[in-house]
Amino acid sequence: MQRVVNSSFILLVVALLVCSVYSVDLNEFLAQRERLLAEESSRILGGSVILNADEQLVNNVLMAAKTLEFDQSFSTLDFIPADHYFLAKPAMLQSEVFQFIQQMPKGAVLHIHDIAVTPLEFIINDASYRPNLYVCTPPQDPVFFQYASSAPANLLDCQWTLVADKREQEGPEQFDSWLRSKLSLFTLTPQETYPNINSVWTAFENTLIAGSGIITYAPVFTDYFYQGLQSFYDDNVQYIEIRTTLPQVYNLDGTLMDEVQVTQLYKDTFDRFKNDNPDFSGAKIIFAPLRRADSATMTKYVELASQLKAQFPDVVAGFDLVGQEDLGPPLKDFLSQLLAGAVDPDLHYFFHAGETNWHGTDMDENLIDAILLNTTRIGHGYAIAKHPSVMDLARSNGVPVEVCPISNQVLSLVADLRNHPAAMLFTNGFPLVISSDDPASWEAVALSSDFYMAFMGLAGKKADLRTLKQLAINSIMFSAMSTDEKNAAMAEWQKRWNSFILNKYNEYKTKHNQI
Ligand SMILES: *[C@@H]1O[C@H](CO)[C@@H](O)[C@H](O)[C@H]1NC(C)=O
Ligand SMILES: [Zn+2]
Repeated sequence: MQRVVNSSFILLVVALLVCSVYSVDLNEFLAQRERLLAEESSRILGGSVILNADEQLVNNVLMAAKTLEFDQSFSTLDFIPADHYFLAKPAMLQSEVFQFIQQMPKGAVLHIHDIAVTPLEFIINDASYRPNLYVCTPPQDPVFFQYASSAPANLLDCQWTLVADKREQEGPEQFDSWLRSKLSLFTLTPQETYPNINSVWTAFENTLIAGSGIITYAPVFTDYFYQGLQSFYDDNVQYIEIRTTLPQVYNLDGTLMDEVQVTQLYKDTFDRFKNDNPDFSGAKIIFAPLRRADSATMTKYVELASQLKAQFPDVVAGFDLVGQEDLGPPLKDFLSQLLAGAVDPDLHYFFHAGETNWHGTDMDENLIDAILLNTTRIGHGYAIAKHPSVMDLARSNGVPVEVCPISNQVLSLVADLRNHPAAMLFTNGFPLVISSDDPASWEAVALSSDFYMAFMGLAGKKADLRTLKQLAINSIMFSAMSTDEKNAAMAEWQKRWNSFILNKYNEYKTKHNQI
């Protein structure tokens, strides 16, 4: 009897167990799975964008190309955003997704630096062929360039020669490729050439020093920025904010222009470009001198920023500091100067912050200082995912991060862009814009290269046209334009977007009918 009870009891337990295993019905589970995926899909950057019928068709075609590229990469393990940009660029140029992004109206570029705005072709093929340019090549980089009516006084370890003479001696092709190598970080062996973050930053700053001697010659300066705007305009970007150290611009006789005169040069150039291209929404500058300064200099910088903002309210967006963040000094060293500047309600901050892998250091904590100083945007914010309270404040105050994927890769913060922390910002719909930082230094294609890397490498396989559309809208919304300027820029962008969608729609319809 006892045995019987025992075995039926066991049977009962087994039956209950079996029931509980199957108590979640498969269909029910799949429905939950769908709901969870849909919820995540709605939280992604652009998740609340609703596409109209034409946009949906264009999206289907875009996503077919993106899916194909992902699937091929998955089987070959050869994924463009996982590779160093220098090696991946030829494949990127061939990508259908990249070409789509190139044609797309992308709105604005909000994080870019003066000495690396314009494609090197302008300096190499135009500026360096102008008369009176001298070069001085010490045994160690940087090399120096200067336009002058006669050879400048020799430096300690090098003599000035006319570029025209050197070019003739060496042969133009040889000379021009040498010149390119002094202005660009590009190499087919990035890991060996730049083994660590300090070596790549040193080389980077050397390219900027070399370029600045050419760019800051007054007649070149204005043409250089005109061509810079042109390169973004051609890349379907309609508005630009340029961070500038406001370098001393010089004339042939050696006379120098001050910051007010240089700001006026920017204004004249922007006006000339807008006059030639009425559908361009404009450009502004952010005064961004080197962070390696003493406190007296910082006081002067902040006062100058206020003064320039008052004198050129439509041209000057605000203030920032530049230079390798890891080497400091951190923002907190200048709190009294920066708090004094914050008293001016018209002076806005656009601080670089968290462009570092050194979690918990003073430099990493620039994110804390930037957000408490009411920065309007955060440059890079590469480390922000490690600062949840900064993220909360940034989100509630509408402070976006300016994500520059290729810059972070070339300047050694991350190798494989799938590991870029902004991937988490995308999935959480965090306010962000994509920018290109110093496209000329790594020979990026204006804004499109970074858009492509963000779309493919950061946003995930399923991010679609809604994400791209939101990125473009964000770039205008988070710009330093006035409300009126923003409204006009949004209207212009919408017009361009509608015609882009219509063109793409017709292109695909035609292709489809032909098949
Ligand atoms: C930042 O903005 C808040 C809210 O407007 C204000 O209370 C605070 O004083 C500002 N901080 C600085 C440093 O300007
Ligand atoms: Zn920058």
